[in-house]
Amino acid sequence: GAPVEADISDIAPGTMKVVEWRGKPVWILRRTPEMMASLAKLDAEMADPASDKFYQIDTPAYAKNATRSRAEHKEVLVVVGICSHLGCSPSSRFATGAQPSLPDDWAGGFICPCHGSTFDLAARVFKNKPAPTNLDVPPYMYLSDTRIVIG
Ligand code: FES
Repeated sequence: GAPVEADISDIAPGTMKVVEWRGKPVWILRRTPEMMASLAKLDAEMADPASDKFYQIDTPAYAKNATRSRAEHKEVLVVVGICSHLGCSPSSRFATGAQPSLPDDWAGGFICPCHGSTFDLAARVFKNKPAPTNLDVPPYMYLSDTRIVIG
């Protein structure tokens, strides 16, 4: 499939947009400083905190870090929005605070409606969930501060 360009200038902090790449949804989330700060605290609760495993796409070297993102814009997360369990599409849930059926002190992330896998704001899967791996980071790069190309 062809690479896909996306304008990210209209993604406000704390929101995301979805683009299609190779027939799959790719989520582009611009994280707030609070969202970024939540990530490191969760390492011990993650099944694969350093993204050593993958679902369909080996994690690019530039995304094997605490934020799973490129250095130019660490706050921007780019992931394929397909659950690594049986392929459902998780929902985003960016609320904060304790909520029923969610990890304590949920800082937001993604929840799969099919079997309840939960993912943090770097799309890393929480331990003891049906999904075995984090959501995949596709190949992507910056064309400018406001445009990326995926693929
Ligand atoms: Fe997502 Fe099963 S398909 S938890």
